[in-house]
Amino acid sequence: MQAYKQIADLRQAVHIQKQHKSTIGLVPTMGNLHEGHLALVQEAKQHCDFVICSLFVNPLQFGANEDLNAYPRTLDADIAKLKGCEVDCLFHPTAQEIYPHGIKSQTIVSVPDLGMEHCGKSRPGHFDGVTTVVSKLFNICLPDQAFFGLKDYQQYLVICAMVRDLHFPIKITGVETHRESSGLAMSSRNNYLSDEQRQQAPLLYQTLVNTANQLKAGNRNFRTLEQSAKQTLTDATIKPDYFSICSATTLQPAKQTDPEIVILGAILLGKTRLIDNIRIRLS
Ligand code: PAF
Repeated sequence: MQAYKQIADLRQAVHIQKQHKSTIGLVPTMGNLHEGHLALVQEAKQHCDFVICSLFVNPLQFGANEDLNAYPRTLDADIAKLKGCEVDCLFHPTAQEIYPHGIKSQTIVSVPDLGMEHCGKSRPGHFDGVTTVVSKLFNICLPDQAFFGLKDYQQYLVICAMVRDLHFPIKITGVETHRESSGLAMSSRNNYLSDEQRQQAPLLYQTLVNTANQLKAGNRNFRTLEQSAKQTLTDATIKPDYFSICSATTLQPAKQTDPEIVILGAILLGKTRLIDNIRIRLS
């Protein structure tokens, strides 16, 4: 596996691959890799000749009171995992390499509307940080295809909109969420949970499944279902941040006529914020 910290070196490696007409796949990550990330890599390997995994804890997408400093950094273990699944190239730049002029005067890429509600409301500026760094990674790595986990469904839609609006010639592929046997969606932030919180956390997915089942059974009282799901979480001493039944394309509150629905949930367990979602088609 090739590994680069410098943009110039990565660009040189990409240039050689382009000369060989190899298709390039990019899996952007913030490291602390788990099976969900490795599934993105496997998917990329199936579709692309040369797979780059980027590993960068992006300061621009963390709010002032968030977990940037505490975010788990496990480079050696990540390298071993990436070698194990035969990734062709690791790009792990420093913050100085990505933001050489600092983040205050950084040009920002911002997707309106889709990024405003849900996680965008709870984490102001978060999606601007994501789209700005992903644009940089796209310009540096020049991928033909890029792979994102659908656990971060709002992020996935925001990136699709950015690619469409800015004419990036890149195919975006969403990869299904990987779950622990309890149903808990795999996430680097699960590492923050105490034993007790780990017991509580799967209730988010169970509540999403329960709501999806009620929708499939014909219940269309969207707002009542949202309230009742929040109450279930609160009764279990879990603080819901949001629990919203939305159009799967616009993320606006679901209407009776929407064929594709996403149920988005975010909870707080202590200081740890976990998100998850379920998408369903209503006939
Ligand atoms: O989903 C993530 O891990 C991050 O938001 C991403 C896409 C790597 C950008 O920093």
